[in-house]
Amino acid sequence: MNNHIEKVFRDPVHGYISVNHPIILKLINTKEFQRLRRIKQLGVTSEVFHGAEHSRFEHSLGTYEIARKICDYFSNNFRTQSTNDGLWDNNECLVTLCAALLHDVGHGAYSHTFEHLFNTNHEKITCQIITNPTTEINQVLKQVSLDFPQKVASVINHTYPNKQVIQIISSQIDADRMDYLLRDAYFTGVNYGRFDLNRILESMRPFNNQIVFDISGMHAVEDYVLSRFQMYQQIYFHPTTSSMEIILSKLLQRIKDNFKNNKPIDNSLVKPLEPFLNENWNIKDYLKLDDQLLNSCFNLMTNDNDPIIADLADRFINRKPFKSVIYNDKSINNLDKLKKQIQKVGYDINFYTDTNDTFDYPYSQDNEITFINKDHSTVKLSKLSKLITAIINQKVGEKRFFFPKELLSNDDLFKQEKNLFNTYIKNGHILES
Ligand code: NI
Repeated sequence: MNNHIEKVFRDPVHGYISVNHPIILKLINTKEFQRLRRIKQLGVTSEVFHGAEHSRFEHSLGTYEIARKICDYFSNNFRTQSTNDGLWDNNECLVTLCAALLHDVGHGAYSHTFEHLFNTNHEKITCQIITNPTTEINQVLKQVSLDFPQKVASVINHTYPNKQVIQIISSQIDADRMDYLLRDAYFTGVNYGRFDLNRILESMRPFNNQIVFDISGMHAVEDYVLSRFQMYQQIYFHPTTSSMEIILSKLLQRIKDNFKNNKPIDNSLVKPLEPFLNENWNIKDYLKLDDQLLNSCFNLMTNDNDPIIADLADRFINRKPFKSVIYNDKSINNLDKLKKQIQKVGYDINFYTDTNDTFDYPYSQDNEITFINKDHSTVKLSKLSKLITAIINQKVGEKRFFFPKELLSNDDLFKQEKNLFNTYIKNGHILES
C-alpha cells in the first residue's frame, strides 16, 4: 500500500521545506500551530527593522526543517549498529521532528513583556499544550502512542533520556538557534547573522551519546557563534526595541493597576485580558491571544478616559518610542535627579521612566561546543579559536534609562528641562556624579 505523502512549503530561508510524515502534516494543520502565524517572531523589533514581520509559524517550520536534515544525515551516515555504540538511533527521528516543530508553540503575543506582567511562562505552556487532552496537538500526537505527547514534552523540558535528541533542539548550536539567526538576519535585512548552515550540518556527528562537530567544520561553527554575538548587539538588544517594550509593559501595568483598583475600564477593550487580570486563566484563554487582537485593543485604548492609558497606547500604536541614555553604578545620583525633574514637569515617573539592564551571553562556557579529531579525541571550541576565547562569557547588553523624548525638544514647556538634561547627559550617557 502506498501511503506516501509529501507536502512542500516554499520558504525564503531554506528554499523548500518538505514534509513527508502524516503526523507532522497533521500537527501543522492544528489550530494551536496555525495560531503561530499571528504571532511575530521578534515582537516589537519590526518597529525598528520594518522587515521583521516574520512569524513564529515560519520559524517553527524552519526549525523542523533543520532538525529533519540532521536526522536524515545521521540516519544515512551514523546509524547505531550495536547498543551503547553512542551513535544515532533511527527510532528517535519522529520525536525529534515533533519537538522541533512544536518547541515554540506556547509563545504568546509579545511573550516576554506579557510573561513578566502576568506570570505566564511560554516554555511551561508549550509542554501544557502538548500534554493537555483538550488540544488538537495532543490528539494528533496520541495517534503515535498514548505516551508520545509526554515524550515530546520531555524533549522540550530537557528530561528526555536521549541527550542527542535534546541537543538537536536545545544547545549552544541547535536547530532552533540556527533557524532564528538566519531568519532574523534575512527579515531584518542585516548581514550579520549569516553563516554556512550546510557546512555545519555536514560536520555534525553523534558521538558517545552527545553531538559533536568534525574538526574540519571549525571555521563554519566559529562564524556561527560570531554571527550570534553580532545579532545580539545589533538586533536583539537594540535600544529602540527595548523602549517600545517598556511602553507596552507600562501600558499593561496601568491596565492591571486600574483593574485592581476598580477604576472603570471599558470592558470590551480588556475582555481578552480579563482572565489574566483576574489571575484565573486557562490554556483556552491563552490560545485566544495573538498580536492582532492585542494591537486592536491597544488601538481602541488610544481614546480611553484614563489619560495615561490613552497616551501610552498612542505611543505604542503610533510608534513614539522613549528616548534612552546609558548609565552605570556611578551615575545613579544624576539619574535620580533627572527622574525628579521629569516628575516636576508633570509626568508620573512610574509610567514614563524606566531602567533596563538585560544582559545575555551569546556564547558561554556551560556545555561548550565540542569538536572531534581524526583520532576520536575531543576538544572544546574555545581551545581552538582565539576569536571565541575573546568573547566566551562576554555579557552583551547595557544599562539604560528611558524617558519621554519630548523632554529633549525645544518646546518652551521643556526648555528649562532641556538645559537641565544637558547638564547631566553627554554623548548618550548620564554623567557620573
Ligand atoms: Ni525557537
